[in-house]
Order: sequence, then C-alpha cells, then structure tokens
Amino acid sequence: MLSAYYFVVCLALVDFVFGLGNPPAPRWTRRQTNAVALPSASLLDTNSTAAGRSGILNVALSDDRQSYYIVIEAGDISFRVALDTASADLWITSSACTTTACHSIPKYPLSYQSPSFIPVNANSTPFSVGFADGTAASGFVARETIQFANLSVSNQPFGMVTSSNVTIGSEISGILGLGFPRLSTIFDSVPGATPFFTSLAELGMLAYPLFGLSLTRDSSGTLALGAVDSSIVTNTSRIVWNEVLAFSPFGTERNVSSYLQWVIPISDIYVNGTEVLPSPTYPFAASNMSLALLDVGTSGIYGPYQDVSRIFATMTGSRFVDYSGQWALPCATSEIMTFQFGGQNFTLQPSDYLIGATSGDPNMCLSWPRATAPSSDGIDWQLGTPFLRTVYTVFSYGINTKEPPMIGLYPLNNASALPETPAFISSFLSSASATIATALPNFVLATPTYTTPPYAFNTSIPASLGEIVSSDLALSTYSPLLERTANATGIPTVSPSPTRATLILTDPQGDVFTSISTASIPSVTLGVPPGWTSAGIMMDVPPLLSIALSCIAIWFFL
Ligand SMILES: *[C@@H]1O[C@H](CO)[C@@H](O)[C@H](O)[C@H]1NC(C)=O
Ligand SMILES: *[C@@H]1O[C@H](CO)[C@@H](O)[C@H](O)[C@H]1NC(C)=O
Ligand SMILES: *[C@@H]1O[C@H](CO)[C@@H](O)[C@H](O)[C@H]1NC(C)=O
Ligand SMILES: *[C@@H]1O[C@H](CO)[C@@H](O)[C@H](O)[C@H]1NC(C)=O
Ligand SMILES: *[C@@H]1O[C@H](CO)[C@@H](O)[C@H](O)[C@H]1NC(C)=O
Ligand SMILES: *[C@@H]1O[C@H](CO)[C@@H](O)[C@H](O)[C@H]1NC(C)=O
Ligand SMILES: *[C@@H]1O[C@H](CO)[C@@H](O)[C@H](O)[C@H]1NC(C)=O
Ligand SMILES: *[C@@H]1O[C@H](CO)[C@@H](O)[C@H](O)[C@H]1NC(C)=O
Ligand SMILES: *[C@@H]1O[C@H](CO)[C@@H](O)[C@H](O)[C@H]1NC(C)=O
Ligand SMILES: *[C@@H]1O[C@H](CO)[C@@H](O)[C@H](O)[C@H]1NC(C)=O
Ligand SMILES: *[C@@H]1O[C@H](CO)[C@@H](O)[C@H](O)[C@H]1NC(C)=O
Repeated sequence: MLSAYYFVVCLALVDFVFGLGNPPAPRWTRRQTNAVALPSASLLDTNSTAAGRSGILNVALSDDRQSYYIVIEAGDISFRVALDTASADLWITSSACTTTACHSIPKYPLSYQSPSFIPVNANSTPFSVGFADGTAASGFVARETIQFANLSVSNQPFGMVTSSNVTIGSEISGILGLGFPRLSTIFDSVPGATPFFTSLAELGMLAYPLFGLSLTRDSSGTLALGAVDSSIVTNTSRIVWNEVLAFSPFGTERNVSSYLQWVIPISDIYVNGTEVLPSPTYPFAASNMSLALLDVGTSGIYGPYQDVSRIFATMTGSRFVDYSGQWALPCATSEIMTFQFGGQNFTLQPSDYLIGATSGDPNMCLSWPRATAPSSDGIDWQLGTPFLRTVYTVFSYGINTKEPPMIGLYPLNNASALPETPAFISSFLSSASATIATALPNFVLATPTYTTPPYAFNTSIPASLGEIVSSDLALSTYSPLLERTANATGIPTVSPSPTRATLILTDPQGDVFTSISTASIPSVTLGVPPGWTSAGIMMDVPPLLSIALSCIAIWFFL
C-alpha cells in the first residue's frame, strides 16, 4: 500500500482537526455556554499518592501512510486510535454508526452494555468534530474506563461517534487527541471533562507529566506516557527544550491567557547552509517570532508563502507546481533543509522532505514544505510527520504554578552530515513511493496572493512564551525537572518490551472482529469484548455476509 500514500498526500491535506485550504479553518474551538456538569475523571487505581507511573506502546503507520495509531482499551474492548497533537478529544466509532465510512472498522458495541460505561446526560450531550477535507463525525459524549499500556482512567469522557464520513483506514476506530484542554470540544461543553492525557496529569498519575513520541515508517515507533523512551533517547541532556507559547483569549473566552496548541518558535531556517530567516505573518502576535505547531496528525510540512517561496528560491532547479502551494525539485537534489529550534539545527535530508516523483517528469519530485495562506491564529508553520520522524519529540505538559509546557526535541538525524547522494535518493524513492499523477505546468506560475485575515486573539490580554499559569496543567505536587533545561537529566525513562504478537483480524460484515493467535503469547482482538459470544453479536447485527475481509497485522505489546 505504499503507493497510496503518495497519491493521497498530493490530493488532500489531512489533519484531524483543522484545514489548510483557502482560507484555512480556524484551529481552535469556541467555548460554549449551557454546559452540563460532569464528575471529574478518576483513577481506576485510586492510589494517587504513588510515585507515578509510565507506560509505553508501539506506534504504527497506517496502510495509507496518513496516520500513526496505537491500541487503547475502552472498558475491556481494544481499539486502534490515530494520534493527533492538534486536537484534544478522544473519540471512538460506535455500533450505531451505519454509514459507509464505518463499515470496515471495529466499533464500540453499544449492545454489549460495558460495565464500565457511564452515560452522560442520558447520551444527549452532543459531540461533533470536523476535518480539513470537509468530513465530519458526530455522536454523543459518554464515559468509559480508558486504558493505555497499564495506565487506566475511569470515567474518562470521550466522543461516542454515531455518524461519520471520516475514512481513516487500517481498522482505526477513532482519534486520540493529545492537545491542551482549551482545544477540546468536550471540555468546552462539559465542565471538568478533561481530555485523557490531561486526566493523567491532573491526577498526578504519571512519573512526570509528559509524553514522548518516536515515529518510524513501520510499526516500530513508540508512544511513552510519563517518561521518555530510553531505547531511543540515550542521552537526555541532548534534548533541546523549547517553551510552548500561551495564547490570548479568543472571543468570549475567559479573561486570562492559557495554553492552546503545541506551538513553539522557529528560530531560523537554512537550505544547504543558506539562511532563509522566517518572516512571521503577524509580527506583533509573538514578539516577531515565527511559530510552529508540531502535529503528529498532519502527514506533511506546511509553511507560509513568504517563507516557503524563499526556501525554494534558494533550491537548485525548483519549480512552483500549482496553486495548492506545491513546489517540485529535481529528485536528484543534493541539499539539506534545516529548521532551527532553541538555537539548535534539526536537518531534513532529501529522503525526509521529498514526496515522490511526478508522472509529468519522473526526474522531478514534489517536495515539502507546501505553502499555505495565512491562518488567523498566527501559527505559520505546521510540522507534521516528515519532520517528526527526524526527531524524538517530548511533549511536556507543564505544572500548575510551577513550570510551563515545553517541547523537547532530540535529533535523530546527524546535523553535520552531507546531503544524501542521488543514488541513495533514487533507491529510497523507488522502494517507498510511486509516481504522482501530476502534470507539471509548462509555463511559469505566479505565486498566488492572499489577503491576511485579522489576528484572531485579543492582544489586549498578553500571552507569552513559557507563561507559568495556575490551572489546566499538571497537578502542582509534581516537582519541576525542566526549570534548568540544561540539566534535565532527571526525567524518567521507560524502555519498550521486545515482546511481539501476531494479530489476525477477520471482518465478516464490518461489525465483527475476531482474532486467531498464531503466537504463544496473547493477541489483541479489536472491537470485541473478551468472551463476548458470537451469539450475542448476532442478536445485534444483520445476518453476516459470506465474504470475509481479512487483515493481518503485526502488533507489539507489553
Ligand atoms: C500506594 O503506593 C505506594 C507507593 O508505591 C505503596 O507503598 C502503597 O502500598 C500503595 N497503597 C495502596 C493502597 O495500594
Ligand atoms: C506498569 O505498572 C507497573 C506498576 O504498577 C510498573 O512496575 C511497570 O513498569 C509498568 N509497565 C510499564 C511498561 O510501564
Ligand atoms: C460529511 O458529513 C458532513 C456532516 O454531515 C457534511 O457536512 C459533509 O459535507 C460531508 N463531507 C463529505 C466529504 O461527504
Ligand atoms: C550527553 O550529551 C552531553 C551534551 O551533548 C554531553 O556533554 C555528554 O558528554 C553526553 N554524555 C554521554 C554519556 O555521552
Ligand atoms: C477575570 O474574570 C474574573 C471573574 O470572571 C474576575 O474576578 C477577574 O478580576 C478578571 N480579571 C481581569 C484581569 O479582568
Ligand atoms: C546551523 O546551520 C547553519 C547553516 O549550516 C550554520 O551556519 C549554523 O552555524 C548552524 N548552527 C548550529 C548551532 O549548529
Ligand atoms: C521582525 O524581525 C525582522 C528581522 O529581524 C525585522 O526586519 C523586522 O523589522 C521586525 N519586525 C518587528 C515588527 O519588530
Ligand atoms: C549542498 O552542500 C553540500 C556540502 O555541504 C554540497 O556538496 C552540495 O553540492 C550542496 N548542494 C548544492 C545544490 O549546492
Ligand atoms: C555526522 O556527519 C559528519 C559529517 O559527515 C561525520 O563526520 C560524523 O561522524 C557524523 N556523526 C555521526 C554521529 O554519525
Ligand atoms: C479584549 O480584552 C479586553 C480586556 O479584558 C476587553 O476589555 C475587550 O472587550 C476584549 N475585546 C474583545 C474584542 O473581546
Ligand atoms: C543535574 O540533575 C541531576 C538529577 O536531577 C543531579 O543529580 C545533578 O547534580 C544535576 N547537575 C547539575 C550540574 O546541576
């Protein structure tokens, strides 16, 4: 399925929460009134005085190469959920969803009557989420025990989706948003309904309120909660720490600034050693700094026209390809692209930033970054998985009254290495991509012009980088470890288990998944509670079709 990636990537900008079309959709959610009170999430294991824990799971790339997913449990039912750092809600497709997009994915079986399911407002608090490509999912807010590795939160609010036209692929049943609560639509409508990671941090359950992310081109990435993966980060003092930007209020939001997105300033950009100093769209918004959102839910790299056009202007043989902001380069390019954060260089080799060859000219390759029109939230750059694969990323959530949120970047590419050779790039592209059906224009295209929308936030209430706030971050009983970021050697580490399981899924008609373990260790069944009989299933669903869809996946678990 490698080829599908490169087609899709050129046709649709995919992010789980916001759009990059013209004009881009706003990246925040408005607060709503008439909210219903909901008891806070609580620990299944109520020993919250324990020192705290960590957990680690493998992260896999979906077949269409658009999403990275993990397996979580809702009650005792396992699901694959795609990771997103630019949204803050967990949602899972339920058996009530009968639309086409829901057919071939495991669904939360409502008729099972999970003992840990807790209804919210008699299932009448609406949940809805919209996506960049115009697709949407909706349903109601409910609570379940959500478990991840061996971290478990009961009463965790989530979106139970009953209608959807979102196609995620790879039997992925929903999305796990790892953003700040201000971004959560459920938190907006239900006070106290904190997102899953916020629940862990606010309950003081983690060894440290952070998560670490390693992304690979297969299923060997990891998501560590409460600690960093010591099999990848071998020297924690080489992590480059960046304070996250707080945002001013928007509209009728509360009258203090707070954290919204995983956004940090880019200090500089270089193309093969030539500086392309980024120029922020709203220089007043954040002290003349250009801002970057680090987003695992985005499968590309996007920047503003004023920066991206100067980047490609310095690159030998580059061509502006179309009005979606796409440039092409000779596939045999010999230049590296460097993003500087916190004064440190993070380099991308051609195999990191090239998308694939075009059918119009197989010697020309489409390339990241792609340019986008100005976004009124002032976030100019969006660094998705092509960048995140080149670093280990630590998202440190911050501690109420003590420590701001920070993003730690641990380089995996050698910043002083020479550009890859044309032979290497050619071999990489032939193994990893197919030709993209893009006819190159035979005339020079002008860069489109855009009007810049007004900046969306109320700048009369200041917001700053690394602001220490008093709420919505982790429990203040945590001792800050990142105060002197030069010595963050005390942060907890965790190492992944080498245990491997083979998982076989069978989908007789889109609702039922069973598994056959071919290993001597347990396997994971998606979407079906353990021991729930097929008789029970058949009472709930229409007659099974005779043709089964089968899927084989490798899964690692603890
Ligand atoms: C709570 O955790 C602490 C530290 O791990 C342990 O000593 C204590 O026995 C635990 N208490 C309960 C009730 O599990
Ligand atoms: C799971 O939790 C236990 C303590 O309850 C801890 O000892 C163990 O290391 C944890 N496992 C992982 C993989 O984090
Ligand atoms: C998906 O559903 C939403 C809500 O029903 C609708 O507004 C949108 O047009 C649909 N999009 C597509 C691509 O079908
Ligand atoms: C870890 O990295 C720091 C900073 O680069 C360096 O000074 C130190 O020697 C490294 N430690 C080890 C054990 O390599
Ligand atoms: C913000 O609002 C709260 C009450 O909603 C009020 O007590 C406080 O004084 C306000 N702060 C500012 C700076 O206006
Ligand atoms: C980053 O790269 C640029 C261009 O190669 C170089 O001039 C600069 O010294 C580098 N900075 C660091 C901290 O390595
Ligand atoms: C922002 O920085 C650029 C480059 O250093 C400078 O030319 C420009 O005047 C600055 N703008 C503001 C508003 O400070
Ligand atoms: C980029 O820099 C490397 C050396 O750092 C050099 O070999 C290569 O030719 C340069 N590429 C271009 C297009 O100038
Ligand atoms: C990084 O690249 C430079 C230049 O090619 C090389 O000398 C150095 O050994 C490399 N370092 C590592 C750790 O691979
Ligand atoms: C911006 O905030 C100030 C200070 O709280 C307030 O007086 C003003 O009405 C706000 N503006 C808007 C457009 O909400
Ligand atoms: C760095 O932190 C470690 C653990 O927190 C501590 O043992 C060590 O003394 C610190 N080093 C410095 C130079 O502050």
